[in-house]
Amino acid sequence: MMKCFSVSLASLWVLLALFSLSVSSQNISESGLQQASLPPRGWNSYDSFCWTISEDEFLQSAEMVSQRLKAHGYQFVVVDYLWYRKKVKGAYPDSLGFDVIDEWGRMIPDPGRWPSSIGGKGFSEVANKVHSLGLKFGIHVMRGISTQAVNANTPILDITKGGAYQESGRVWHAKDIAMPERACAWMPHGFMSVNTKLGAGRAFLKSLYEQYAAWGVDLVKHDCVFGDDLDLNEISYVSEVLSVLNRPIVYSLSPGTSVTPAMAKDVSGLVNMYRITGDDWDKWEDVKAHFDVTRDFSTANMIGGKGLKGNSWPDLDMLPFGWLTDPGSNEGPHRFSKLTLEEKRTQMTLWSLAKSPLMYGGDVRRIDPTTYELITNPTLLEINYFSSNNMEFPYITSSINLKHPGGKERRLKKGIHSLGLTSCSESKARGWSIESLNQDLERICWKKGLENKHQAPFCVHKRELQFRLDGVSMYQEDYRGKHQLVATDRMKFCLDASPRRKVTSKEFKRGTFSPCRWDSNQIWELNSNGTMVNSYSGLCATVEYIEANVNSGGIRSWIATGRTGEIYLAFFNLSEQKTEIYAKTSYLAKVLPDKSITSCKGEEVWSGTDVITTQGTISMNVEIHGCALFVLNCN
Ligand SMILES: *[C@@H]1O[C@H](CO)[C@@H](O)[C@H](O)[C@H]1NC(C)=O
Ligand SMILES: *[C@@H]1O[C@H](CO)[C@@H](O)[C@H](O)[C@H]1NC(C)=O
Repeated sequence: MMKCFSVSLASLWVLLALFSLSVSSQNISESGLQQASLPPRGWNSYDSFCWTISEDEFLQSAEMVSQRLKAHGYQFVVVDYLWYRKKVKGAYPDSLGFDVIDEWGRMIPDPGRWPSSIGGKGFSEVANKVHSLGLKFGIHVMRGISTQAVNANTPILDITKGGAYQESGRVWHAKDIAMPERACAWMPHGFMSVNTKLGAGRAFLKSLYEQYAAWGVDLVKHDCVFGDDLDLNEISYVSEVLSVLNRPIVYSLSPGTSVTPAMAKDVSGLVNMYRITGDDWDKWEDVKAHFDVTRDFSTANMIGGKGLKGNSWPDLDMLPFGWLTDPGSNEGPHRFSKLTLEEKRTQMTLWSLAKSPLMYGGDVRRIDPTTYELITNPTLLEINYFSSNNMEFPYITSSINLKHPGGKERRLKKGIHSLGLTSCSESKARGWSIESLNQDLERICWKKGLENKHQAPFCVHKRELQFRLDGVSMYQEDYRGKHQLVATDRMKFCLDASPRRKVTSKEFKRGTFSPCRWDSNQIWELNSNGTMVNSYSGLCATVEYIEANVNSGGIRSWIATGRTGEIYLAFFNLSEQKTEIYAKTSYLAKVLPDKSITSCKGEEVWSGTDVITTQGTISMNVEIHGCALFVLNCN
C-alpha cells in the first residue's frame, strides 16, 4: 500500500514537472533531468509570516503563486521554520517545550496550524495540493535533533527495518546520538547536532529525510548547519541520503553567515543552493552587504557549479518586498517593505546578475503591482536563468572621480570592527588583553593588527558575575575567572555568542549585544594566551578590522553575456548622492571572451531610454542606492 502510494506520487511529480516546463514562458528545455540546472525560484513564508503560518494561509499563497508567478518560473512554495511548533501563549522562536514530535523524535506539523496532518499524514495532503497546482513543495528543517526529543529520550527509528534501531544488542535513543555541546547557536534551546559517526545517529537523520520524501517534499532548506554553524558531517550525510532517494529533492542550506568561497567549496558539490550571507531583510545595509561576497563567489567560479545530482547556486536570500513581518516575530504580515523602489531594483538586478535563486518573501496574496512587475521583469528573469560570464566589472568611473583627479586613490580612514567566533586553537583568536580603567572597572581590548594609528582598539568592559544576597554582592564560585562583556560602562548590554533570533551578517559582525542575563551565551573567560572563550559555544571571539574600500566612491558595476550575444551591464550607486557613472566600451572586451568591441547600442531597462555609445563611453546618472541596467548589442 505504502509502496503504491509513493510510486503514484513520483509519477505525478514527473507529469507536473513536464507540465510546468511546457507552460513556462522561459525556454528551460535545456534543464533535462539535472537537478537545479537553473537557479530555483519560488516563494518562501519566512519574510511575511516568520514561523506562524497556517495551512490555510500557506495554500492561499500557493494558489497565488500558481496563478501569477508560476509562468515566470517561480515553482517552489516553501514553509519556513517551526511548522511543528504550537502557536500558543509562551511559544516563540527559541522557546522549549511547544513542539510536536512523533514517537521516534521526528518533527511533525502542528495539527493546530496544519489540520490536514492529523492522523499521521504529516505534510502529504499539503504536498498533494501544491502539486495539483503545478508547483513544488519545500520545507525548512533544522540541524540534527530537537531538544524536546532529547529530553523525551525517544527511541531511534530504523526505517529500513521498520522498528527501533538496535545495535550491540540494545535499542538506541535520542540521548545516545545527541550532542548538547553542539546546540544551534542561534536557537540554543531548540536543536542540536547528532553524532553521524554512530549508526544510530545516521539512522535518525535517514528516518527524517525518508519521511520528508514520503510526504512528497521537493525541497529541503536545511538550517543551522552552514556558515558560523557549520556541521559538515551532517550536510555530507544528508546529501548522501538524498542522493539515493527515488524522489528528486532540491537541497538548500541556510543561512550562510561569514561564508567564504573556500568554506563553500566543501559543500557546493553536496547541495543545490547555499546561502552566502546572514539573513537579508528590507534594509539598505543588508542589500549593500551582498556586493562584496557575491563578487567573491563569481570570481571563484561558484555560480552554477556542480551540485547534488546537478548544479549548485550561491543563494543571496529571499526578496523582502511587499507585505512583511519582522525577524523573530510571532505575527504575520503587518507592514510594508522599507526598501525604496531604487533599492529594490538594485537588489533584484544584483540577484539576477549573480544568478541567485529567486525566492519572493512578501505576502504573495497582497502583492502590489510595482513589486509584481519587478519580480517578473522579463529581462531580469532572462539574465537570472540564461546569462553567462557573470562578474563584477571593475573598469568604471564616476563624475565624482572625474571632478577630483586622483580621487580614485583617496582612501577613507573609516572602517569597521568585525567581530566573529572561531575555534580557540586558531591563531586568529589571539589578540585580547585586559587593562584597568579605574579601581572598579576593567576593559578587555583587541589590539592585534592595529598598524594604522587612526584605528581605535576594539574594547568591551568586563562585568563580574555576581549575584545579590541580602543586599550584598557575592561572586559565584563556579564562575571564578569568568565574566560578562558589556558594550558600555552602563553595564546593560552583554556580548552574546548565540543570538536568540536570526541576525543579518551585518548585525552579527557588529557583535550581538543583548540585555545582560544569567546565560552561558554571555559568559566569557580570558585565557593567558590572549584568547577569549565563550562558555556556551566553546568558541573564541576574534576581531578583524575592515577598512571601507572606497577606491571608486561606492559605485559598482556587473557584467554578463546573454544567449544571443547581447551584453548586460549594470551600474550601481551604493552611496548617498546622485552620480553619473561611466564605462569605456573598449574595456568591456577586457573581461569577455572572444569580443573586440568598438561601439554598442541598446536600451536602459528601467528608463526605457535608448543608449548609444558616444566617444566609446557609456554613461548614466544613477540615483542614490539605485542602478542602471543596459542591454547592449556591441560590435
Ligand atoms: C530552447 O533552447 C534550445 C537550446 O538552446 C533551442 O534549441 C530551442 O530552439 C529553444 N526553443 C525555444 C522555443 O525557444
Ligand atoms: C589558548 O589557550 C586555550 C586554553 O588553554 C587553548 O584551548 C587554546 O587552544 C589556545 N589557543 C592558542 C591559539 O594558542
